[in-house]
Amino acid sequence: MKNHVLRPLWVVIAGIALLLLVRHFIVPSDFGVQEGGSFTYNFHRESNVEEWEKFKVKYRGMDYCQECHEENVESILESPHAIIQCENCHGPAIDHPDNPEVLAIDTSRDQCLRCHSYLPYPTSQRNEIAGIDPDEHNTDSECIECHNPHNPDLENME
Ligand code: HEC
Ligand code: HEC
Ligand code: HEC
Ligand code: HEC
Repeated sequence: MKNHVLRPLWVVIAGIALLLLVRHFIVPSDFGVQEGGSFTYNFHRESNVEEWEKFKVKYRGMDYCQECHEENVESILESPHAIIQCENCHGPAIDHPDNPEVLAIDTSRDQCLRCHSYLPYPTSQRNEIAGIDPDEHNTDSECIECHNPHNPDLENME
């Protein structure tokens, strides 16, 4: 073969060799098509399964709170906030009441405005939640001075 054909060929071969070498060092040894399982998950790092099995879940869900905070649970379940998990406002409770002994209580307006600041965009169902304009609606006070977070029904306002 002529030189001008061979030279680029060597470059290509060197390129492939380099790729294989780099791949050898950076791809974990247990990556590949694993036995069993569905097709979708066949191509993965086997040790990743174990890592996710050890992943610590942080949330417990409302049923757990029922044991010790029965009143709050009953109250919220009969209110417009029934679909909101307690931990959405109070944070993860996985080892509570051991660690932390109490969960955080955030009484700020921001806590409520996450969901109730009026949004005009109909792209998600977020705009179906009753919204107020935070710069107009009783700006001098925390929301919870008038609305009970565990029972925010407007008809039950004192
Ligand atoms: C095994 C009993 C138990 C369970 C289950 C439990 N808690 Fe508690 N919780 C306590 C105790 C005890 C305290 C500290 C005393 C107190 O304030 O009632 C506390 C305190 C709190 C506080 C702070 C109260 C304050 O006045 O400072 C919040 C908020 C709270 N828990 C929320 C939750 C939520 C949300 C759940 C469910 C995800 C939950 N707890 C599950 C026992 C429990
Ligand atoms: C929308 C946010 C929100 C949700 C959802 C929520 N809380 Fe609260 N929670 C608050 C706020 C704000 C306070 C402080 C109220 C106050 O100081 O008047 C509070 C206070 C508390 C307290 C201490 C005062 C008390 O009432 O005993 C406990 C305990 C508590 N919440 C437990 C719960 C549990 C259990 C759930 C789920 C059934 C829950 N919370 C759901 C926002 C929330
Ligand atoms: C995670 C989202 C979320 C958070 C945070 C939240 N809310 Fe709500 N709230 C809702 C949903 C959903 C409803 C029921 C649908 C509706 O009424 O628009 C609701 C209903 C209400 C209602 C009744 C509106 C009506 O027309 O009947 C009031 C008042 C209210 N919330 C006040 C608060 C206050 C005060 C806080 C803060 C302590 C708060 N919310 C935090 C989602 C939230
Ligand atoms: C001084 C008392 C007071 C404070 C503070 C207050 N509200 Fe209200 N809120 C009311 C009253 C009264 C109504 C019913 C009449 C109305 O719509 O203005 C209401 C209505 C609402 C509604 C229902 C609106 C609708 O269109 O159905 C939501 C949601 C709401 N408030 C959320 C909040 C949030 C979030 C905060 C804090 C950022 C807050 N409120 C602070 C008194 C208050």
